[in-house]
Amino acid sequence: MKQKIVVLTGAGISAESGLATFRDANGLWEGHDVMEVASPEGWQKNPKLVLDFYNQRRKSALGVEPNAAHKALVDLEQKYDVQIITQNVDDLHERAGSSNILHLHGKLFESRSTKDENLIYPMTGWELNLGDLCERGSQLRPNIVWFGEPVPLIEKAAEETMHADYLLIIGTSLQVYPAAGLISYAPHDTPIYLIDPNTPPISHRRNFTIIQEKATVGVPKLVKKLLGE
Ligand code: APR
Repeated sequence: MKQKIVVLTGAGISAESGLATFRDANGLWEGHDVMEVASPEGWQKNPKLVLDFYNQRRKSALGVEPNAAHKALVDLEQKYDVQIITQNVDDLHERAGSSNILHLHGKLFESRSTKDENLIYPMTGWELNLGDLCERGSQLRPNIVWFGEPVPLIEKAAEETMHADYLLIIGTSLQVYPAAGLISYAPHDTPIYLIDPNTPPISHRRNFTIIQEKATVGVPKLVKKLLGE
């Protein structure tokens, strides 16, 4: 049986593709009040502002390509059972070709009914507008997990992490829970590799390796090592 590698990714893995992170300089939150554009309260107050924010993000995502880090993670599947757990809503892991991807915070290219969370629709274009309705006549919203909303896939993610032989953490500031708490589900002897040019302060564990590099440099190197090349 193949060993299992769980990979937790954040906005940093898509940074070199050209998508802004959230909390770096020029990050997405710098020009926005998070609660205005990414919370149920913000949606109640000004749905057009919220739709415009995600329309812009969708437009940006359509114009970029997966980078060397997304692609290197696909190579890991030659030897390992790889589970990607991403906080990203972009589709760059999919477009790179990874097989198993959990989108903890939802997907930019899906919309869903405001009345029924099970009515989910794929989006091909970049625009979602007021007046775009689900099949039962309710307004559509982005299928994104906003601040204050439950994270439906967290239990599945925790279960996967519990069985990790290796855990890779790439490009996340580990400031947002419950995603950041997934580390604690890894078995105690599981080697953990953290790849980020600005590594967050994190409690030291026996098997913790910090690789202070950008994703497109650090990930392909680590993948080669794990493949024994
Ligand atoms: N390669 C790797 N990491 C990078 C790179 C790069 N080229 N550039 C920046 N980073 C790192 C930063 O140092 C930082 O640690 O990526 C991380 C980005 O952190 P955040 O902007 O906080 O993004 P993330 O951790 O994914 O945010 C988590 O917060 O706002 C919510 O829902 C949103 O999913 C998001 C969640």
